[in-house]
Amino acid sequence: MSKILSPRQTDQAAHIIRNGGLVVFPTETVYGLGGNALLDSTATKIYEAKGRPSDNPLIVHISSLDQIHQTAASCDEISLALAESFWPGPLTIILPRHDRIPARVTGGLDSIALRLPDDPLALELISKSGVPIAAPSANRSGRPSPTSFWMAQQEMEGRVDAIIQGEDTRIGLESTIVWVSERGLQILRPGSIGPLQIRKALDHRGYREVPILLAGNTEDAPTSPGSKYPHYSPKAAVETYTKIAELKDIEDNAAILTIHAYRSLPKEAKEARIIVYGNLDDYARQLYRDLVSLDEDGISHIYLYLPDPATQKKDPIALALADRIKRASGLSPKT
Ligand code: TXA
Ligand code: MG
Repeated sequence: MSKILSPRQTDQAAHIIRNGGLVVFPTETVYGLGGNALLDSTATKIYEAKGRPSDNPLIVHISSLDQIHQTAASCDEISLALAESFWPGPLTIILPRHDRIPARVTGGLDSIALRLPDDPLALELISKSGVPIAAPSANRSGRPSPTSFWMAQQEMEGRVDAIIQGEDTRIGLESTIVWVSERGLQILRPGSIGPLQIRKALDHRGYREVPILLAGNTEDAPTSPGSKYPHYSPKAAVETYTKIAELKDIEDNAAILTIHAYRSLPKEAKEARIIVYGNLDDYARQLYRDLVSLDEDGISHIYLYLPDPATQKKDPIALALADRIKRASGLSPKT
């Protein structure tokens, strides 16, 4: 049995983490499965609870910029500029790993993924625990990241010491992951902080010449080790569409996830279960939750709205959504 803690019980949660236990907690992106990042044994427990291959590194969460130098061996000036511009926030920065952090936490890599989240509860938990917190998303491997307490509980009940009963997460998609190399800044995983915002921050700090590359744009771009593992795809068959005209030959027992007004949908589509999101932010916030519910309801076909390339260029959440939607539908995210 996992203990259920209220958001006011961060003292207790911090105590569990400091002493090598595991606690599920909310962040602004998705719920995390956290443990003391200084302990080798925590990493083993986290991999076990998730059923995750141990070469897939964990993100380490900190609560102040000072902690960069307790977790990273060094921090180049561009990464520091990014940290100062976007932390606390949904940005994860890859840096060289400090010896203090066991290699098991980083899946054996010499690099470490660092994030300073901007959820007050998460920040309080990290600072009270007094240690950096290693926390992947709190889902079992191959399942969607939990974006609500009940999803987190469904994933982790009985596998962790405690679960904090927090709010639904504000963003609903995992953080943007970036890595700075000699070639420029590479976005390894798109999230709600997008290339345009990063460009603006770099320009503002005097790094106009630093190129921003989307992983997959170039042959030698490294990818996150995690991206070689299968991601969540629902039991239902998934198809994507961008223009309403593509919504035809709708299967029986189907659901359509859309941002288009109900009345603009073709008549035959209206036989399906229809979820209309007010905007792309709502779509992102609810996507994982809705995919899980539709699976539980035995829906056999899901049509997912895929934002068009022009919107993906302008709106970071559209780019991140397109990445997750392509994975859910079994398409390569590079297409
Ligand atoms: O929003 C988030 O980032 C959430 C919340 C809990 O903070 N965490 C999260 O963690 O999404 P996780 O473990 O589910 O995804 C981390 C990704 C994995 O794909 C992993 O391969 C990659 O980050 N990663 C971790 N360390 C890395 C490293 N040193 N180099 C490259 N990629 C790394
Ligand atoms: Mg994950």
